Amino acid sequence: MLSLSNKRVLLGITGGIAAYKCAELTRLLIKAGAEVRVAMTRSACEFITPLTLQALSGNRVHLDLLDPEAEAAMGHIELARWADLVLIAPATANSIARIAHGEADDILTTLVLATPAPIAVAPAMNQGMWADAQTQSNIAALQQRGYTLIGPDSGEQACGDVGLGRMSQPSDIVAACAQLFDTGFLAGRHVAITGGPTREAIDPVRYISNHSSGKMAYALAEEAAAAGARVTLISGPVSLSTPERVQRINVVSAQQMLEATLTAAEEADVFIGVAAVADYRPLEVAAEKIKKNDDEMSLTLVKNPDIIWEVSRLEKRPELVVGFAAETENVVANGQQKLASKKLDLLFANEATKTFNSDDVAITVIDANGTTALSAANKHVVARQMLQLIAARLS
Ligand code: CTP
Repeated sequence: MLSLSNKRVLLGITGGIAAYKCAELTRLLIKAGAEVRVAMTRSACEFITPLTLQALSGNRVHLDLLDPEAEAAMGHIELARWADLVLIAPATANSIARIAHGEADDILTTLVLATPAPIAVAPAMNQGMWADAQTQSNIAALQQRGYTLIGPDSGEQACGDVGLGRMSQPSDIVAACAQLFDTGFLAGRHVAITGGPTREAIDPVRYISNHSSGKMAYALAEEAAAAGARVTLISGPVSLSTPERVQRINVVSAQQMLEATLTAAEEADVFIGVAAVADYRPLEVAAEKIKKNDDEMSLTLVKNPDIIWEVSRLEKRPELVVGFAAETENVVANGQQKLASKKLDLLFANEATKTFNSDDVAITVIDANGTTALSAANKHVVARQMLQLIAARLS
């Protein structure tokens, strides 16, 4: 699937009439899954307003090298590092010449020099200017440096001439950009994951919970994003930082996790239930801190919703619903029973006492066809293997 899923595209717009097509280009880049930030030369602003591109990209447009406000939001060196791809479209004859000569006197040329990312150039100019030997030598210099040339196309030009020099159509530019990336085996897919423990309040200062660290869910989320997926991670309270390019929704109780999960799962292709959801919660939550007046006390607990089962029976069910089984005994038999009772497509079973808080994990893969073992390894290594098994089962 041709996609720019999770890719960060820095769109550099220079001052040519084709700049008006950048509204459509930005829209299509985003539709293909990219996150877009825009940098414009001053002359580009004569053809399309920064406000239009800010509204379409959802991000502040960078216009000046030394704009304190823009630099405070994201400095130009940070922006250059942020990009997975710098796309200059339209690239005028003048901007191509300046880039070819290594100038750095405005935001765009500076970004081009500073970025470690690949650079693609979509020229747009009069056919005579394109054919000129100096332009051709500048283009040859850029190609020699490894820049990707997209177009130009041939046809009627704004000035009335006919010939080579029109900027390629936005859809062709997006397709050419997508081809530059090995988009990964989950490109274009949406994966929703629950992770960590839940906490069930007893009173304002106490709760019931478990030892889940969230490490397995976070490793899966990070690896799924690296494989090109859009990832929503519904997380109980853990002390882990959010992996890059992952949308994290924080929840505390099972009830909150259920609500956030059902919303995310309706749009997801894959749901992976990794959370160690507390099976029971106190029937009543005391309004004030409970005092130790008695020698004995008891709590009445009621069952929490089974989140993965609720996802499994959604009308708009994800194509794959994948569970985890943390067991302390009879790992395979209990796992098989959970696969059937929760109507799961795939289940990863492990020994809970060895797994919680550990960096390594050994997994038994269970589906309707039987079981296979994944040997013990770092959670990230195992997460990649699991995601490959999941991707192989997607239509
Ligand atoms: N799960 C869930 N909601 C619950 C309990 C579990 O979504 N209330 C999910 C887990 O995220 C996991 C799978 O169900 O994917 C199995 O969880 P596990 O704790 O092993 O099993 P339980 O269903 O809780 O059964 P038991 O505690 O009796 O072993």
